[in-house]
Amino acid sequence: MITIREASTWALLGLMSVHSTPPTARLDNGVARTPPMGWNSWNHFGCNVSEQLIKEEADAIATSGMRDAGYRYVVIDDCWQVARDAKGVIVADSARFPHGIKALADYVHSKGLAFGIYTDAGTKTCQRRPGTLAHEDQDALTYASWGVDYVKEDWCNAAGLTAPIQYAKFRDALAHSGRPIVFSICEWGSNQPWDWAPMVGNLWRTTDDIEDKWPSMLANLDQNGQHASVARPGAWNDPDMLEVGNGGMTDDEYRAHFSLWAIMAAPLMAGHDVRTMSSVTKEILLNREVIAVDQDSLGKQGILVWESAPELQVWSKPLADGSRAVALLNRSTSPAKITASLSRVGLRTDSATVRDLWAHADRGRVGRQYVVEVPSHAAVMVRMTPLH
Ligand code: GLA
Repeated sequence: MITIREASTWALLGLMSVHSTPPTARLDNGVARTPPMGWNSWNHFGCNVSEQLIKEEADAIATSGMRDAGYRYVVIDDCWQVARDAKGVIVADSARFPHGIKALADYVHSKGLAFGIYTDAGTKTCQRRPGTLAHEDQDALTYASWGVDYVKEDWCNAAGLTAPIQYAKFRDALAHSGRPIVFSICEWGSNQPWDWAPMVGNLWRTTDDIEDKWPSMLANLDQNGQHASVARPGAWNDPDMLEVGNGGMTDDEYRAHFSLWAIMAAPLMAGHDVRTMSSVTKEILLNREVIAVDQDSLGKQGILVWESAPELQVWSKPLADGSRAVALLNRSTSPAKITASLSRVGLRTDSATVRDLWAHADRGRVGRQYVVEVPSHAAVMVRMTPLH
């Protein structure tokens, strides 16, 4: 269904460009019905990508249990591409990818995983590799012929372009490629994507790049948390990829990061070195009770329901079975008691059962509220199921 706000955005765009086809509805390409899960090379490896690395990471995703927990898309971010050939076809770095991208996609598929790639809507990527501008149809066909299942399109070197129009071009190019491909829009929330991206892509960044630091993670939480109303199956706000396991935050901070991304129905794209992950990183990323919250079929993004500003917060996400996933977040530097009242989290009953999703323990039945001591820079995450 198209809202009045969406319709007016597109009416405006229709006046701006005779080449754009104003879409009449939300994107319905059949993929990403739950938030995409996978792994992406950027956060840990930057430009240091190669065929060997991607194969080893795919192997580790398959053998570590990550694949079976739902991490499916293995995505090479920037720096795989170096040029275009005489016909304009995009060319991979032959020193780093000696067998080409199709052979690598085949390998990833042979591990029971899906394969993703990165490009940029402008003339060049953020690392100054060839961009997709004026090659949209050609690139989409090339990617489809390689067996690509996921494309992230960035927004560097795009001066003078209009984001909804450029991204719609690539959406249409992917649709004509004949292959179902998840479309990840990455313009950092700079053109109010929450107003138009649900009609164009399956996920869209709402923030600047995450850094492996507590304040950066919280800044992305705060920004992404403002756009909950537009998220739904097939169309997700993206507060950027996970930093869990990269070393810049404490274990408690990483548990909070993962909890909050699940509460926000965020894409869960791991960004660490899977080959060498610690047992704690594994315990966090493979927490099936938290993953189930993120992947819940109702497809609602949770919201901030209470705060003692600026440091204590309660976030709540409605789930398909009528229960609520609740994160009690302590952003302060000292431990604090936090209360989640049933009415605040959205339950209309007098009592509920509580299960702690990190302790994997039932906390029994509570009356009007659940009170818990939360360490500094940490979150307690529970599921509250109403009793009638
Ligand atoms: C931008 C994106 C990042 C990453 C880099 C690659 O900064 O937001 O996620 O893709 O480009 O250069």
